[in-house]
Amino acid sequence: MDDQTIRMLETTFVEFARGKEESASLFYERLFALDPSLRRLFVNVEMKSLATKLMAALGLVVGGLRDLSKVVPVLESLGARHVGYGVEEAHYQTVGTALIQTLALSFGDRFTPDIRAAWTGAYGVVSGVMIDAARRALAGNQAAE
Ligand code: HEM
Repeated sequence: MDDQTIRMLETTFVEFARGKEESASLFYERLFALDPSLRRLFVNVEMKSLATKLMAALGLVVGGLRDLSKVVPVLESLGARHVGYGVEEAHYQTVGTALIQTLALSFGDRFTPDIRAAWTGAYGVVSGVMIDAARRALAGNQAAE
């Protein structure tokens, strides 16, 4: 990912994170509209902490792009933990779609095709690492049974 693309992601992330709670409620509204069954994964979490978690998650996505090797181990254990949260592989696609829809709604016309492509690419890389680690965690669990 080139420097200009990373800077574009950083700038949009900072702005999105500034309106943290509003951004988060928009995101979860989109997510549950796409798949209402995902609500059950978040039943014990209050909105305020979801906002913090969402921004921490996106911070990981954006912050790691300059040196992916540093965040890969973090993302791998995050991916393995998500298995324990009840997250399935197909959910990553839904979360990715909800994220792009949220950014599009938040930024309006300023969400250019370049910015959309940058976010889609970054989410794809990060979720790919998490999904691989989740698969390995699941395979390990099955081998141990
Ligand atoms: C790029 C993809 C994702 C990233 C970077 C990410 C990041 C995070 C982070 C940082 C946490 C805080 C807890 C921890 O560190 O273990 C978390 C929790 C959680 N995530 Fe994700 N996540 C991603 C995808 C997903 C997907 C696809 C789902 C499924 C709907 C999901 C559902 C959850 C749930 C249920 C929790 C626990 C909430 C709680 O009970 O506190 N995440 N995520």
